[in-house]
Amino acid sequence: MRKIAAIMIALCVCFAFSACGQADVSSSGKETEVVLRPEEIKQDIYLVLVNKENKLPDDWTDRIELKVEYNALGEEVWAEKVTLEHFDALREELLEQGIDIELDSAYRSVEEQQEIWDEWMAVYGKDYCERYLAKPGYSEHHTGLAIDIFVIQKNNKIVRDNDGMIADIKDFAEIHQLLPKYGFILRYPDGKEDITGYSYEPWHLRYVGEDAARVISECGITLEEYLSSLS
Ligand code: DAL
Ligand code: ZN
Repeated sequence: MRKIAAIMIALCVCFAFSACGQADVSSSGKETEVVLRPEEIKQDIYLVLVNKENKLPDDWTDRIELKVEYNALGEEVWAEKVTLEHFDALREELLEQGIDIELDSAYRSVEEQQEIWDEWMAVYGKDYCERYLAKPGYSEHHTGLAIDIFVIQKNNKIVRDNDGMIADIKDFAEIHQLLPKYGFILRYPDGKEDITGYSYEPWHLRYVGEDAARVISECGITLEEYLSSLS
């Protein structure tokens, strides 16, 4: 018999996680059901897991289509096509709220990640790198599904450095609230460092699709926890 992973959005998944002491119970009360077969999960490129233990799949670049865009500073940024389309829609809604998010860095080749790793190691050292930077081959940025953003504030001040963005609590709270509507999650949330392996990164968005993003966001869980709940 076909094995079916049934996820009861909000109530069931959240209760399951809360029973394990891993997440809070959602108060939304929604009972939408999403049914995913294990083979569908494996084939869904938007649910790929790349982290400190899971390397980028070898054939990855054959599975995605990359698209280019330019940010407000004229910088060229590449990302996976659907991810970029959803980012544009997210950006548009935020602009209506007076928040200007810009593409900082999205798709990165293994070679580009190596260059950043070498540079950061020289400037910031190993401890900082291990908290904020993936080793080449183990970065979600290789997938094209991860987007780092920065904010241009109303006075045209650009907040782009890590500490500045972590301190920009108000803008990022508004940004994070809208993410699931456009299929994104905050990939490295505060307080989940032991699961994700990385420190809080308010700027690092990951596209997973609307269904997964809604569960992950409502349950307050990570991609790692979500994927474990499906298997
Ligand atoms: N900043 C994330 C962890 C990366 O380098 O992929
Ligand atoms: Zn990132």
